[in-house]
Amino acid sequence: MLRTHTCNELKKDHGDQEAILCGWVAARRDHGKLIFIDIRDRYGITQVVFVPSVSKDAHDTAQKLGPEFVIKVTGKVVVRPDKMVNKDISTGEVEICAEQLEILNESEVPVFEIDDTVDVSEELRLTYRYLDLRRQKVKQALELRHKLCSTIHKFLDKEKFIEIETPVLTKSTPEGARDFLVPSRMSPGKSFALPQSPQLFKQMLMVAGMDRYYQIVKCFRDEDLRADRQPEFTQLDMEMSFVSEEDIFAVTEQLFQLIFKAVKGVDLPIPFQRMTHAEAKEKYQSDKPDLRKEGEEFSFVWIVDFPMFKYNDNENRWESEHHPFTSIKEEDMKYVESKEYGKVRARSYDLVLNGNEIGSGSVRIHKKDMQKKIFDIIGFNAEEADRRFGFLLRSFEFGAPPHAGAAYGIDRLVAILTGLDSIRDTIAFPKTQKGNCLITDAPSDVDKQQLEELGLMQLKK
Ligand code: AMO
Repeated sequence: MLRTHTCNELKKDHGDQEAILCGWVAARRDHGKLIFIDIRDRYGITQVVFVPSVSKDAHDTAQKLGPEFVIKVTGKVVVRPDKMVNKDISTGEVEICAEQLEILNESEVPVFEIDDTVDVSEELRLTYRYLDLRRQKVKQALELRHKLCSTIHKFLDKEKFIEIETPVLTKSTPEGARDFLVPSRMSPGKSFALPQSPQLFKQMLMVAGMDRYYQIVKCFRDEDLRADRQPEFTQLDMEMSFVSEEDIFAVTEQLFQLIFKAVKGVDLPIPFQRMTHAEAKEKYQSDKPDLRKEGEEFSFVWIVDFPMFKYNDNENRWESEHHPFTSIKEEDMKYVESKEYGKVRARSYDLVLNGNEIGSGSVRIHKKDMQKKIFDIIGFNAEEADRRFGFLLRSFEFGAPPHAGAAYGIDRLVAILTGLDSIRDTIAFPKTQKGNCLITDAPSDVDKQQLEELGLMQLKK
């Protein structure tokens, strides 16, 4: 280790000890004889003082320091007099009196100040994201995200869920958006689709007898972006066998209770409130009502009994409200028989937090004939259903258990927990509103040869 402590560790008790710190120059105040440096790392800030009588070398070198230089400082921990304690930082009781200073790397003058209070355009922040991530706000969101995910892993492991990875190069799964396609070199003219969710794979894992599956997983959707949408985003995806909605609600509520305790210290009351879709629409004109009574509060509600189908006026056909793998409420089967599809309610549910949809799921269809019937209603004839989902239908022929599941949007959850307006700052390297990655300039042109290998031709620019 190059250092003995981080920049957030030294306290009064360390007085008179030797310490070595490494980090970035956050600020420099040159008072001629005395030079003060704030040295910063991920954990915090410590003040360093350079005095010529202690080390002329270190003092000379300190004169050359610019903002964001990477340095290694060796010195003695000095306890500051009571009235000099800096209450704004947790190391404010002490400073390091430098005996040695090594410049580990120089830095260009940063394109913006590493300071949360300085307003910087998003374009600049995303182009120089590694500088932006040195600022508190975004860094804290990433730390919280990590804590949230580690709480999820611990809890679901205890509850006997296993995390199983599913393919990224796959076949289209309908979740209501366009697919990102990956043309295949080995099968010219054919393409993989990036998964909009692992929906069909998790269902087949239930057929495989895995019983309780989860995955913290990237999903890809080519749709118009908003503050709460990214083209690649992360879900906590779950599925359970031999359960009903009640079991999904119970495990989710316990999980969220733990998450909120771990990351916010908040005791969430459970069970969460429930409201039918019809009631939400009637009372709040929304299927994601914000039921908060105060500002600071977190208000969860399950919206249940969604319509199974909605009518697509442009295409003159019925389509699924959630997705076509959702089962129908037993008592509404009569409307399927009478073809009154608008009256059919699904066994699906959304989890809404402070007016944001943070998750959704359903009890699934596990019988082949029923699944075919739903495909038929939404306009996939037998041939098309077989071409697109034959593999799922086939799996249902080999003992598919009753199963149900849900998926929760991790990025949205972190944004709400950290009070961020956009999910972009819950992601280390997000895409812009236009779907670009500014730091790498992707998507970008590809070589003609690459296109040729894939059997593709550029039509227009
Ligand atoms: P759904 O499509 O509702 O369900 O997605 C689940 C949750 O994922 C989040 N989400 C997004 N977050 C950021 N950017 C996006 N573009 C985006 N799209 C969705 C939302 C949403 O509630 N397979 C089903 C789940 C299931 O039935 O088990 C599914 O993906 O928080």
